[in-house]
Amino acid sequence: MCGIVGYIGKKDNPQIGLSALKRLEYRGYDSAGMAVFNPEKQEIFCLKAKGKISELERKFYSAPFSGSPFIFHTRWATHGEASEINAHPHWDCQKNIFLVHNGIIENYQELKEKLEKEGHKFQSETDTEVLCHLIEKYFQGNLEEAVRQALKEVRGTYGIAVISKKDPQKIVAAKLGSPLILGINQDEFLIASDPAAIVSHTRQVITLDDNEIAVLSPNNFFILKEKPIEKIEWDAGEAQKQGFSHFMLKEIMEQPESIETPLRGRLIIDQGLAKLGGLEPVKERLKGIERLNIVACGTARHACLVGEYMLEEYTGIPVEVEASSEFRYRKQILDKKTAVLAVSQSGETADTLEAIKEAKEKGIMCLGVVNVVGSTISRETDAGIYNHAGPEIGVASTKAFTSQLTVLALLTLFLGRQREMSLVMGQRIAKELLRIPELMREVLKSEAQVKELAQKYKDFNNLMYIGRKYNYPIAREGAHKIKEIAYVHAEGMRAGELKHCELALIDENFPTIAICPSDSVYDKMKNAMEEIKARQGKILAVATEGNNEIKNLVDDVIYIPKTLEMLTPILSVVPLQLFAYYVGVLRGYDVDHPKNLAKAVTVE
Ligand code: M6R
Repeated sequence: MCGIVGYIGKKDNPQIGLSALKRLEYRGYDSAGMAVFNPEKQEIFCLKAKGKISELERKFYSAPFSGSPFIFHTRWATHGEASEINAHPHWDCQKNIFLVHNGIIENYQELKEKLEKEGHKFQSETDTEVLCHLIEKYFQGNLEEAVRQALKEVRGTYGIAVISKKDPQKIVAAKLGSPLILGINQDEFLIASDPAAIVSHTRQVITLDDNEIAVLSPNNFFILKEKPIEKIEWDAGEAQKQGFSHFMLKEIMEQPESIETPLRGRLIIDQGLAKLGGLEPVKERLKGIERLNIVACGTARHACLVGEYMLEEYTGIPVEVEASSEFRYRKQILDKKTAVLAVSQSGETADTLEAIKEAKEKGIMCLGVVNVVGSTISRETDAGIYNHAGPEIGVASTKAFTSQLTVLALLTLFLGRQREMSLVMGQRIAKELLRIPELMREVLKSEAQVKELAQKYKDFNNLMYIGRKYNYPIAREGAHKIKEIAYVHAEGMRAGELKHCELALIDENFPTIAICPSDSVYDKMKNAMEEIKARQGKILAVATEGNNEIKNLVDDVIYIPKTLEMLTPILSVVPLQLFAYYVGVLRGYDVDHPKNLAKAVTVE
């Protein structure tokens, strides 16, 4: 999604902005732009390019200029096609005010009509441009005052950074519903929509809250409210590829570590307990909850579907998993004994955030499972658990997914031991959880085999993924991954449902990926696979080590180690992630930047 970077300070080299912007490439975008104030000419130079940041860079180096402050942007089209004219920055009639914006101005049509009647001339099809003209309308020499006046008229969401050649020694930034952080360094200040953009400059940051306006000048900054300085706990190296050809592969391979971190210090083995500091404030209230509604999107929602099986089996609490985008549009039967849990890697997904706001308005306790520390969802919820999976850059969520499963297993242990789960069962789950990172290392050894299988299956345009019980959501996640990365049509099905419809699609050109570990539903999975074989369907199975009989039934097998049934998904998803990755690469796609998708989906 859109990305913002701004800089003010002694360095006058816009290359700083370009490199910072590149760190946001992972979010997905379709055009880029920059505006730089040049003090000698007292002018703002602006460049825009459709497509990659490298195109903007090429334009810049063909006639470079210097200056400060500067603002940069990557755009992911919402209003108006991806084009140079619609790319940010946008400006006013006098070319005095330049602005970059993340979010959506919902009342832009009515504002635009009004401003046009007042004589303002628009160039682009974007909602953003109204902000420039509104600020122009109120500008009387003081930029922050004009921004403040303008924002009073706006409905929607925004993170903005604005500069003006008539009030040049400042960047004015403001936020409502779209993240912005302020980076503080010796003699320089930065503004960004994502800490990844500025972490190589500074780890001293302030997260802006909704309705706050920050004014950055070369030697100082000012926010309308006193705020504590925080410290980013990860370094720039963690957000680099470190020798892997793609972030996605790097993130798949680092899963043993990214599931170990959320477990660290959170298990008391002899007591069979999970210690979750983030839930301490609501620990007693949680004892009284009688229902749990979980909201999430995409891959995070698949993690929740696994969580639903875990929580219902071991805590006895009825659980419902809802797509966040639907939550506020249906009648919710919630009472004070219901808790709502939001699961999100980025902590910024607009649909999930809106679901939380809806629940909070009804006075319901809201919990979060979030990866990005300090993100909006983590701050909007009453209590929660951080994944601590480290920054996830690939648009396709992989390590965040397995860390979500790990955290949901911890939550199951936590709530289960408050209720009916026995000490012995608690100890079993806790001990097995500690073994999972090692078992994951075993699974990752199948990488070369999966790569060969990707070569064998890469030309099929349709794939069926099937699973049951705990591995049904994994079938959905496997299909989700190959759709978004390799653009292969795939269905993620409950194996038992096949015979009611999708079996009609199966033939020698429509292979099936069957997730069939040796668990309580294995025999039923076998029935579904027999039915597929009877229709000449090819099968690639993910099965438990030691299951030799399956070789007689299917075409190819990838083995995973034995573990507790509830924890199997943490392992079984890994070959599917690798498979999607290699099919995408073999088909020649840029797997870190799938077309039309963005990392953090900050629009509804
Ligand atoms: O940041 P979130 O976990 O809230 O994001 C939710 C989805 O947008 C995300 O999982 C998306 O489906 C990914 N592309 C999956 O790989």
